[in-house]
Amino acid sequence: MELVVSCSPGLEALLAKEITELCPRLEPTIEHGAVRMQAPLEPTDDELREIYLRSRLASRIHSSLRSFAAQNAAMLYDQTRRVAWQDFLSPEKSFIVHSRGESKAFDLRFAGLKVKDAICDEVRKHFQGERPNVDRENPDVRVTLFHRLGRCEISLDLSRDVLHRRGYRMDAGEAPLRENRAAALVRLTASLAEGHEEAHDPFCGSGTLLIEWASLVLGAPRALAFDGEDPLFKLRPELKDPFRKRHQELMQQYRKNIEKRVALGVPLITGSDTSPAALEAARKNLKAAGLEKLCRLEKGDALKLETKARVLLANPPYGERLEDTDAAIEILKTFGRHVKHQLGPCTLGVALAKTGLTKHLGFKPDLKLAVDNGPIPIELSVIKIYEGRAPR
Ligand SMILES: C[S@@+](CC[C@H](N)C(=O)[O-])C[C@H]1O[C@@H](n2cnc3c(N)ncnc32)[C@H](O)[C@@H]1O
Repeated sequence: MELVVSCSPGLEALLAKEITELCPRLEPTIEHGAVRMQAPLEPTDDELREIYLRSRLASRIHSSLRSFAAQNAAMLYDQTRRVAWQDFLSPEKSFIVHSRGESKAFDLRFAGLKVKDAICDEVRKHFQGERPNVDRENPDVRVTLFHRLGRCEISLDLSRDVLHRRGYRMDAGEAPLRENRAAALVRLTASLAEGHEEAHDPFCGSGTLLIEWASLVLGAPRALAFDGEDPLFKLRPELKDPFRKRHQELMQQYRKNIEKRVALGVPLITGSDTSPAALEAARKNLKAAGLEKLCRLEKGDALKLETKARVLLANPPYGERLEDTDAAIEILKTFGRHVKHQLGPCTLGVALAKTGLTKHLGFKPDLKLAVDNGPIPIELSVIKIYEGRAPR
C-alpha cells in the first residue's frame, strides 16, 4: 500500500521526522503538504498502525491508487476506469469523491463528478449493471482526487475525520490553535528544551498548547478514543481488533505515566490567562484529556507572569482585526522584555497567526517555521533565552 500522509504545508519535514521516530525503517519522501512512503519502503501493517494511532502532526492518511497527467475530462475518465474499483466497491457499498488541490485544467467540482461517473461505470461492468450509491454523510469508501502541478492522484482516504481531532476539545474558547499546529510548536520547542518538562502557557486560552505538551511528554495516543468506523477498517476489517488493542495499550501507558507524574507532586503544566471564560474552557479540556491533576490554572496577566517553568509556550493575541494589531504589538513587546528580564533562562515557543509579528518580541528565533493557514501563514518560532541575552 503506497501511503500518503498529508499535513498542513510547512509541517512536512517535521512530519517525516515524527514518522521515522515511530517507524525507524521508513524513509518518507517530502512533497508539498504531504509525505509519501512507496515500495519497497511502504509501511507494514504494524507501521501503519503506529502512524495511524500516534502521529500528532498528520491531517489525513491516504492509500494512493493511481497518479497521472490529465489535461481533459476524457483522460481523467479513462485513467479513473483503470483502477480496479471492484476490489473496494460493490453495489451494496456507498462512496464519495472529494476533489481537492489546484488545477488549471479542471473545475474541481466537475472533475469530481467525472471521477464519480467513471467509478460507477467501472463497478457496473463487474456487477451486472448495478452501481454503488453516493453517500455524503457516512460512505463506506472515501475517494480523493488530488490535483497539483498538472497531475491528478486518486487515493482512498483512510480516515473519516481529520486526524487533528483528539477528543479533548469540549470547549474551543475564542481563538483556538489547531491541535496539529500546536503539536508542531510543542515538538519544535521540546527539541531545544534540554529535557525540561514543566511548561507554562501565559496566554493559555482553551489549553491546546498545554495539552499537546503534556501529550508529548506522557506519550498519549493521537486520539483519546479509538474510531472503529474509519474507512480503513471497512477496507481492511482484519486490522480493527489489533489496532484497537494497541490503542488500549497506549491509553493504559498514558494513564500510568499521568499517575507517575502526579506522584511527583509538581504540576507538569501550568497556565494563565486574563479571561475567566478561557480558563473555564481550558479546565474542561484538560479534564477531558485526563490531565486535571497535573495542571494548575490561574487568572493572571502574562505581562506580569511569575513562573519557575523553564519552558514557555505562547499563542498571544495577534489582533484578528486590523485595528487590534497595534495593541497586539504592544503586548508582544512588553511580553518579550518581561521574559528576557524576569523569566530567563528558558525556552520560549510562540505561535502567531499573522506574519511579521514575531519580531516584536525582540528576539531572533533559533527555530522558525511558517505553516500554511489559508492566505496568512502561522509563524511558529522557538527562542532560547539565556540570562542577560539582549533583545535586538
Ligand atoms: C490566541 S488566544 C490563545 C488560544 C489558545 N492557544 C487556544 O488554543 O485556545 C490568546 C489568549 O490570550 C489571552 N490574553 C490576552 N491578553 C492577555 C494578557 N495580557 N495576559 C494573559 N492572557 C491574555 C486571551 O484571553 C486569549 O485567551
